[in-house]
Amino acid sequence: MFGKPGRVVQAVEDVSFSLAKGETLSLVGESGCGKTTTGKSVLRLIEPTAGSVTMDGEELVGLSAEKMRLRRQDMQIIFQDPYASLNPRMRAGDIVAEPMRNFRAQNRGGKDSENDKLAWLFAKVGLRPDAMKKYAYEFSGGQRQRLGIARALSLNPKLIVCDEPVSALDVSVQAQVINLLMDLQQEFGIAYLFVAHDLAVVRHISHRVAVMYLGKIVELADRDTLFARPQHPYTQILLSAVPQPNPKVKATRQILRGDPPSPANPPAGCRFHTRCPQAQPVCKEQVPALTVRSDGHLVACHVQ
Ligand SMILES: Nc1ncnc2c1ncn2[C@@H]1O[C@H](COP(=O)(O)OP(=O)(O)O)[C@@H](O)[C@H]1O
Ligand SMILES: [Mg+2]
Repeated sequence: MFGKPGRVVQAVEDVSFSLAKGETLSLVGESGCGKTTTGKSVLRLIEPTAGSVTMDGEELVGLSAEKMRLRRQDMQIIFQDPYASLNPRMRAGDIVAEPMRNFRAQNRGGKDSENDKLAWLFAKVGLRPDAMKKYAYEFSGGQRQRLGIARALSLNPKLIVCDEPVSALDVSVQAQVINLLMDLQQEFGIAYLFVAHDLAVVRHISHRVAVMYLGKIVELADRDTLFARPQHPYTQILLSAVPQPNPKVKATRQILRGDPPSPANPPAGCRFHTRCPQAQPVCKEQVPALTVRSDGHLVACHVQ
């Protein structure tokens, strides 16, 4: 209403990736680079303006509301803030049972089977059965996130988008929740699209990692390759900020200059050129394509 007409934020552009059964792909990058938008677009919680999302060979973009509703059983999301994402007026048992009740067809067995499933879910995420009767505010942050995981798990999903699921938790609790997610993946073969900015967490949980900058993927590789041999200057700077556990290794911390430019008006050429220590004249003019390097490593950079 008050903005200039025609100003559109392209939060995410030209982002493409695949995710295998039982695999964790992490999306990392500064706040505002489009991680949440990407995760929500996959679930169509944000309607992408263009593009394609396929699951088991079925195109999801353009599915009718009812077909998409059925498909959503396979795809769940866990949010960053376990305080805001659980209804304070509902008991924990009802919170976790709600998705099952929404898909009654799957829950034909009635009340008994629902109670059995709830008891099983609470045990799976490490909560005691008497927790079902409590309200969300009676739980600690870590326990609330366990509730969020139980709710996401209740319909046996194939994919869970985890949007900074441990960023709001104490460090000691973070490890427990991450290990729980990894155990559940092992047991049920769930794929995770894992959004995070904590690179230590990402290194622990991921199979592959995609680095995003201003709405684009600038590098994508398997975890070990990315951490051992980052190619994109932006990734190199991000990784240099991770604390070095070995004091004998000389820290060569690089600092990222300035703030990211506005996504409403991204720089021409390589979007990172305004902050890149290695920028060349070509970087201001030509958009670097994401190209395959050795061992399947994808990088979008003119210089590296
Ligand atoms: N509803 C919206 N309206 C306008 N801009 C938005 C909206 N949601 C997100 N954005 C913008 O899109 C960009 C990407 O946001 P987001 O996906 O939330 O980033 P991240 O999760 O990486 O922090 C940001 O610049 C943000 O300000
Ligand atoms: Mg986000």
